[in-house]
Amino acid sequence: MKKLICVLILSTTLPAALWAGETGQEVTRAKQAIALFAQSLKSELVSTMQAGGPVNAIEVCHSRAEVIARQISQQSGMQLSRVSTFNRNPDNAARDWQIAVLETFEERRSAGEKANTLSWTETAETSGGPEFRFMKAIPTDGLCLQCHGTAIPAEVADKLAELYPHDKAVGYREGDIRGAFVVTSLLD
Ligand code: HEC
Repeated sequence: MKKLICVLILSTTLPAALWAGETGQEVTRAKQAIALFAQSLKSELVSTMQAGGPVNAIEVCHSRAEVIARQISQQSGMQLSRVSTFNRNPDNAARDWQIAVLETFEERRSAGEKANTLSWTETAETSGGPEFRFMKAIPTDGLCLQCHGTAIPAEVADKLAELYPHDKAVGYREGDIRGAFVVTSLLD
C-alpha cells in the first residue's frame, strides 16, 4: 500500500518519463508476454498455411489463439488478449478505453509513425483498484490479407462466414492496424 501511495504522488508531481519508470517492470513483462503470444501464434499459423492452405489455417486462429493467450496469461499473471474495433470474433470487440487508444494509434500512424512501433500504457483507477494497462498495435502484413484483406479467396470467405456470421475483420490493406494486443494487471 505504501508503494501505491508513493506511486500516486509521483504520478501527479513528476514528469511522465519518471512516472513511466514506476511501471517500467510491468511494461517489460507485458512486452515479453505479447512477444511470446505473437511468435507462438504466428509460427503455428505459418506452418499450417504452408502445410494445408488458408482454409485449414483458420482453425489455428479459431481455436488456438484463445488457448495460447490463456496459457500465457496464467504463466505471466497478466491478462492478455487481442482486440479490434472491426473484430471477427465477438469476444475480441474492443472496450471503450481500448477503442480510444486504437483511435490514437490511427492518429499517430497518420502523423508518420509505423504501425509496428505503436504502443501505449497507463495506470487506471478501477473498482478493483489501480490497474496497469498496456496496448501494442498489431500491423497487417501480406500473410494476413488471405483472411483479412480485400480479395479473400472464395473458399476462405465461405468458411469464415460459417464460423463468424458477424465478421467485421475484412477489407484491410498491408500496413493497416489490424487491432492491438492488450495486457492488464491489477496492481497492489
Ligand atoms: C487463415 C486465416 C487467417 C490469417 C492468415 C490471419 N487471420 Fe487473423 N483471424 C482469423 C480468425 C479466424 C480470427 C478469429 C479468431 C478467434 O475466433 O478468436 C482472427 C482474429 C484476428 C484478431 C483478433 C481480433 C478479431 O478480429 O477477432 C487479430 C488482431 C488478427 N486476427 C490479426 C491477424 C494478423 C495481424 C494476421 C497476419 C499476421 C492474421 N490475423 C492472419 C483468421 C486469420
